[in-house]
Amino acid sequence: MATYKIATIPGDGIGPDIIREACGVMDAIGKKYGHNFEYTEVLAGGAAIDKTGEPLPEETLKTCCASDAVLLGAVGGPKWDNLPGNKRPEKALLGLRGGMKVYANLRPAVMFKQLSAACPLKPEIAGNGLDILIVRELTGGIYFGERGRKEDNSEAWDTERYSVPEIERILKLGFESAMKRRKKMCVVDKANILESSRLWREVTARMAPNYPEVEVSYMYVDNAAMQLVRNPGQFDVIATSNMFGDILSDEASQITGSIGMLASASLGDDGPGLYEPIHGSAPDIAGQDKANPLATILSCAMLLRYSFNLDKEALAIENAVEKVLDAGWRTGDIAGKDYPADKIVGTKKMGALVIEALQ
Ligand code: IPM
Ligand code: MG
Repeated sequence: MATYKIATIPGDGIGPDIIREACGVMDAIGKKYGHNFEYTEVLAGGAAIDKTGEPLPEETLKTCCASDAVLLGAVGGPKWDNLPGNKRPEKALLGLRGGMKVYANLRPAVMFKQLSAACPLKPEIAGNGLDILIVRELTGGIYFGERGRKEDNSEAWDTERYSVPEIERILKLGFESAMKRRKKMCVVDKANILESSRLWREVTARMAPNYPEVEVSYMYVDNAAMQLVRNPGQFDVIATSNMFGDILSDEASQITGSIGMLASASLGDDGPGLYEPIHGSAPDIAGQDKANPLATILSCAMLLRYSFNLDKEALAIENAVEKVLDAGWRTGDIAGKDYPADKIVGTKKMGALVIEALQ
């Protein structure tokens, strides 16, 4: 029986609630398909600040890098909002991404047909469903670039800077992902202003002949933000920089109406991947058995697929989630107004329903 080492980071707020259910689903998968998943729980974010004074203790990064994959719940909360920049819980995320060298962030924005009523766009705009994959650069650009401030606080600056290899490895993943999907990739940038964007375009043009089946397009980020609400069906894969991907992935997830359902994967070259739901830590409902564990459970499906090459098992989780939704079960966040109360369940029950649907 194969053993896989998974580092878990429950983190803050609802993090522990949803990680518990996700591990339950993984155990059920292990039992059914004959794998052994071994978890090591580590501290990051506010939980780590409270215990150690640091958002990302060295031990955490070490354990994560030495595991086969990392599963993260959520970090952050109002309790730590007033700490200085480098002591905030979010610092743990950037530290993990940089430290684990997971330079590519895959954020699928998918509309679940069972939840289409929650889509904020008119049916004539989103009626055919939404299925966009945002490939966001994650360890470079302005979030990691040189920054500074004048001593007298009269000026501050951050730098957007990309090297050709940094761009190439993102685009490679974008092209390869497009090949497995609808064979379209849109590079989003601000090439009418930014020199770094112009370099992204040059690199794209150089690589495109290697993927003749992929239809490549370019779009300025301001236009892309608008096109996402005007005609989201035009997008298949969007490949973009760290900051533009951060912004557009929030927008894309919201227009699916399924924000409590969306998973993400952060991948590097050969080390472990980092998997997490895209939603936040929702401290107001922490520990109350109200959080929706499905995005984390679906992150496990991505983990199985990308880090362990267990496609069948990944699909089993995705199908089980669909089955539970088809049967009408909802957590409060995806229930919508006037949903029958006897079909609204808590975190634990939702986890149990997915496990049941796996059988
Ligand atoms: C995200 C988040 C993070 C980011 C923050 C919390 C640092 O917004 O994962 O998109 O900007 O990358
Ligand atoms: Mg973000």
